[in-house]
Amino acid sequence: MRLLFFLAFVTILEALHCDKEFNYYDNYGHGFDVTCQGITKEYLHLLENITISNEITLKIQNSTLKNISSNIFQNIRHIRYLYLEDLVFTFPKNHTVFQFLDKLEHLAIINTNFIMTKHTFKGLRNLKELYLLNNDIDVIEPGAFESLTSLQYLEITQNKLEDLTDIPACELKELKTLNLSRNHLFALKRKNFVCKSELNGMALKLNDQHLNIDKKDYISIVDTSLGLTSLDISFNKIKVLGEALNYLKFVTLFNAQSNKLKRISNADFKALRDLEQTYLGSNLLEVIESRVFEGKENLEIIDISNNKLQWISLKNIPLLRDLNLSRNFFKISVLQNITRPSSLVTLNLSMNKLDEVPVHIFQNFSSLEYLDLSDNHLQLHNSSFSGLKQLKALNIANNNIEVLPEIVFNELTKLKHLDLSGNKIQYISSENLVNVTFLEVLNISFNQLEQLNYELLKNLNELHTLDVAGNKLKYIQYDAIITDLPLLSNLNVKSNLLSCEFLFEMIKFLKKRHISYTTVDKFDYERENVAGIYCENEKKAVSSDLRTGNSDGNILVDLSILVCIVLVIVIIGVLIFKIKIYLKRRRYRADEFELIGG
Ligand SMILES: *[C@@H]1O[C@H](CO)[C@@H](O)[C@H](O)[C@H]1NC(C)=O
Ligand SMILES: *[C@@H]1O[C@H](CO)[C@@H](O)[C@H](O)[C@H]1NC(C)=O
Ligand SMILES: *[C@@H]1O[C@H](CO)[C@@H](O)[C@H](O)[C@H]1NC(C)=O
Ligand SMILES: *[C@@H]1O[C@H](CO)[C@@H](O)[C@H](O)[C@H]1NC(C)=O
Ligand SMILES: *[C@@H]1O[C@H](CO)[C@@H](O)[C@H](O)[C@H]1NC(C)=O
Ligand SMILES: *[C@@H]1O[C@H](CO)[C@@H](O)[C@H](O)[C@H]1NC(C)=O
Ligand SMILES: *[C@@H]1O[C@H](CO)[C@@H](O)[C@H](O)[C@H]1NC(C)=O
Ligand SMILES: *[C@@H]1O[C@H](CO)[C@@H](O)[C@H](O)[C@H]1NC(C)=O
Ligand SMILES: *[C@@H]1O[C@H](CO)[C@@H](O)[C@H](O)[C@H]1NC(C)=O
Ligand SMILES: *[C@@H]1O[C@H](CO)[C@@H](O)[C@H](O)[C@H]1NC(C)=O
Ligand SMILES: *[C@@H]1O[C@H](CO)[C@@H](O)[C@H](O)[C@H]1NC(C)=O
Ligand SMILES: *[C@@H]1O[C@H](CO)[C@@H](O)[C@H](O)[C@H]1NC(C)=O
Repeated sequence: MRLLFFLAFVTILEALHCDKEFNYYDNYGHGFDVTCQGITKEYLHLLENITISNEITLKIQNSTLKNISSNIFQNIRHIRYLYLEDLVFTFPKNHTVFQFLDKLEHLAIINTNFIMTKHTFKGLRNLKELYLLNNDIDVIEPGAFESLTSLQYLEITQNKLEDLTDIPACELKELKTLNLSRNHLFALKRKNFVCKSELNGMALKLNDQHLNIDKKDYISIVDTSLGLTSLDISFNKIKVLGEALNYLKFVTLFNAQSNKLKRISNADFKALRDLEQTYLGSNLLEVIESRVFEGKENLEIIDISNNKLQWISLKNIPLLRDLNLSRNFFKISVLQNITRPSSLVTLNLSMNKLDEVPVHIFQNFSSLEYLDLSDNHLQLHNSSFSGLKQLKALNIANNNIEVLPEIVFNELTKLKHLDLSGNKIQYISSENLVNVTFLEVLNISFNQLEQLNYELLKNLNELHTLDVAGNKLKYIQYDAIITDLPLLSNLNVKSNLLSCEFLFEMIKFLKKRHISYTTVDKFDYERENVAGIYCENEKKAVSSDLRTGNSDGNILVDLSILVCIVLVIVIIGVLIFKIKIYLKRRRYRADEFELIGG
């Protein structure tokens, strides 16, 4: 619940261009959010003297705060959220600018140049989340994060980092998520996530007796790693993973999409036993070695779309739920490399090189609900989809399909969305759709259907959207279809061969029943249409009352065409006559020459 409050000191706040809002937070209870905009140097002292109790959030936007001191926060020591957005924000390098904010838990610095030294974050001992977005950061001074002893989430996105070693991440002992999306990183290195920690003799006390080592000044340097559970390095320029992930044993989410990776080797993923989600889409991947994902007990999501892969091995991934293989070079046989397919719920194989779909190939995909096979060259058989008992959405658009086998959808009794658009289907039999009785959306647009009868749709009692645009329909049995399919409320018939008379009657009928219909997007008023849908004119004279243009004009046009035709005939006649005479004369002359020559 959001209440708007303007309190007594509204005058001060107004001078600062600040608004106050009273809010409720689950973690912090009721309190004030203050938003200040356009603050300049003259008003800084007013910001310093702000008097609010129970403050939770401070947002400073679009302001110029040059050479400031920590005093600007001296009266809002209890805030939990601080947003600094679109600012010029400078302070002396050795200044501890946030020193009063020891309750602060979330700090976001957005579109604001920001330079961190080892003094900057001193005092923020409760900070849990730090967002640095678009700050021109290319390197962070060692020691800068040392005082952030509670930090769990670090996001440095849309900056200019080139190398992970430029971030002193090992100082963040509690860090769980590191998000470096949209920087200029170009490679990971083996020891990127290794942190050295020193253990002295005291820590090894227990072992001393057995080992008999001189305990006085024993110092050992031990490799430890960050305890990250999420790593996001998407939208960089990374070419190799360099086995760096082997030191991140607890990672459950790994996002490296939109980089320049060419290959994932078994060694790269070997240590990631807890992995749950992997995003490797939009790279240049040609090879993912065969044991990269094998046996990952917790892996649920794999997205490797938009790469150059021809094969993949997905063996023994018992919880795999969501698999995106779209935009690669896979053949249908890739399905046989998913050895435990019964957990899959979503499978995307669009834009690959699938052709013939063998019978029973989906037999063991018993939980699959969403299947996208669009933009391939599918050839279907009667039993191509058998086994897909839970399927809710099937997309086989843009596949050059000419014939639908009679009972190809028969086992898809839970199907709700069927997309057949962009094929070459001339004929759909009522047998095709007899078992898909829960179908809600049927898209057969851009095929070559010539007619659409109620008989075909008679079992689809749940149908609410029917798209048959872009076919060759001259006739639609709309009265029966609409009367007997009570839920049908959305119909697209544009770009067919329907006559204007037919369309006129049909639209009249649709309007009466409040059925919505799709009209042409960029409408050309010169073309024949009924209610915004173009149509074919069978006999001009008969249909003239339906046309948008006026009929007198059309009669004039007809007359002038007639005159033109007569003129052309006359001209052609004259020409033929002249040519005949010319030829006669030529022959005559030729005869003359022959006489002379002889
Ligand atoms: C930011 O503030 C300046 C003046 O302080 C103003 O001209 C500008 O329109 C503001 N921009 C936005 C996006 O509020
Ligand atoms: C603001 O507070 C400072 C002390 O921190 C004081 O010197 C100054 O006079 C105050 N200004 C206003 C406008 O209250
Ligand atoms: C910044 O402020 C400090 C006092 O807080 C002052 O000593 C220093 O001269 C100022 N620097 C600039 C560049 O204005
Ligand atoms: C900060 O640095 C300036 C010189 O740049 C120095 O005069 C000042 O004493 C330093 N302050 C602190 C708190 O270290
Ligand atoms: C990383 O930051 C981007 C941009 O803010 C965000 O979209 C993405 O979800 C974040 N990743 C993680 C793992 O939090
Ligand atoms: C199936 O996986 C094996 C390796 O386990 C690989 O050699 C083969 O090419 C894969 N087949 C397909 C179609 O991906
Ligand atoms: C891959 O497919 C999943 C659903 O299967 C979807 O959430 C994700 O956005 C897709 N990725 C791309 C790049 O299309
Ligand atoms: C499948 O992937 C394609 C291309 O990456 C995408 O456009 C489409 O939305 C995805 N389909 C589903 C059902 O997520
Ligand atoms: C489906 O699983 C059964 C039993 O695990 C197996 O025998 C059969 O070959 C599988 N079918 C396909 C098409 O992979
Ligand atoms: C598909 O099944 C139908 C009905 O069972 C049958 O008439 C037809 O011959 C089958 N088509 C093929 C290609 O097997
Ligand atoms: C589908 O329809 C056929 C008749 O065409 C029927 O024999 C069959 O039991 C129905 N159900 C399934 C799951 O195939
Ligand atoms: C049917 O498919 C066409 C082409 O893919 C698409 O433009 C249209 O939006 C779809 N219709 C519906 C109702 O989803």
